[in-house]
Amino acid sequence: MKTLQELLGVQLPIIQAPMAGVQGSALAVAVCNAGGLGSLPCAMLSPDAMRKELTAIRASASKPFNVNFFCHIPPTRDPALEAAWRAMLAPYYKEFGINVETIAAGPTRAPFTHEGADVLEEFKPRVVSFHFGLPSAELLARVKGLGSLVLSSATTVEEARWLEARGVDAIIAQGAEAGGHRGNFLSEDLTTQMGTFALLPQIVREVNVPVVAAGGIADAQGVKAALALGAAGVQVGTAYLLCQEATTSAVHRSALKSEAARHTALTNVFSGRPARGIVNRIMRGLGPMSGSVPAFPLAVSDLALLRAKAESRGSGDFSPLWSGQNPTGCKEIPAAQLTRELAADLALFLPRLA
Ligand SMILES: Cc1cc2nc3c(=O)[nH]c(=O)nc-3n(C[C@H](O)[C@H](O)[C@H](O)COP(=O)(O)O)c2cc1C
Repeated sequence: MKTLQELLGVQLPIIQAPMAGVQGSALAVAVCNAGGLGSLPCAMLSPDAMRKELTAIRASASKPFNVNFFCHIPPTRDPALEAAWRAMLAPYYKEFGINVETIAAGPTRAPFTHEGADVLEEFKPRVVSFHFGLPSAELLARVKGLGSLVLSSATTVEEARWLEARGVDAIIAQGAEAGGHRGNFLSEDLTTQMGTFALLPQIVREVNVPVVAAGGIADAQGVKAALALGAAGVQVGTAYLLCQEATTSAVHRSALKSEAARHTALTNVFSGRPARGIVNRIMRGLGPMSGSVPAFPLAVSDLALLRAKAESRGSGDFSPLWSGQNPTGCKEIPAAQLTRELAADLALFLPRLA
């Protein structure tokens, strides 16, 4: 079997996790130029914004890169549930002087569509990765037809088998430690979710494609531990959040640097789907998991104004402070340096790198 580096056409078995909302092309470019696989998350980008960011990557890095999409099924609106959720938020709206009528409703995270595939056609990226399963067979065939490799996250052995059966080129084993949204798509039962180093070897045993470990990996020792358990490479997110090329907000950065970062939880109050973030006021008040929240991604807009008002006062009380359980790798250094540090002394494990 090819090594992950040979498959992806990169020097290092390190993928910078796509992180919607906290990065654009700059982070991806820095990682690509350092020998890793940089990623552009597109869940929050319009086709034009995607085109702009991909043009920037092409202009600054002549290396392979990854373009990432969510592939959830857009939910049916449930006006009664949405009204009930807003009633639960009413005390916060009142505190911040927000008129409910001024809150725009509607989805804020788009799944992969033919418009997205049209943009991909212009750039033909080496890698396209998905979160929440895979798009329709027709869309998947379009991506494969471009010659792009397809990766997707699995949070259980069943999901890994499901992805392999549909022809993915590598599987990202996303452990429960991981920051941001859980990629689970076959079950909503959170008791099925396991830690990275429990999940990884079980998936490695079950599938015949390379497995990339994600969740809680924050330094070179963690990278080596994942490789020792059979990973072909790693996908690292949280550790990049303080890098200067990330667009992480001021409140998010200061939370990551504080003691608060030691306490994260899975919460659905920000978007409607479970995601791991630093515990804050809204998570304590209404969650961290709530049965009353509108379906993903409809819940996002309900908190947008509260978040903006609080952030303008320097507070992250209503912000999704996404972080994995291991924030110790977060450093205010260039992403290229972090990538090289993650890959330190890998030659022992990967003789072909020597
Ligand atoms: C701020 C943030 C945003 C994320 N957004 C995405 C995303 O847009 N697409 C995706 O596939 N994964 C996303 N993830 C999950 C990562 O792909 C990955 O599973 C995770 O970062 C690995 O765990 P770690 O954060 O402990 O390194 C995000 C993670 C974080 C921390």
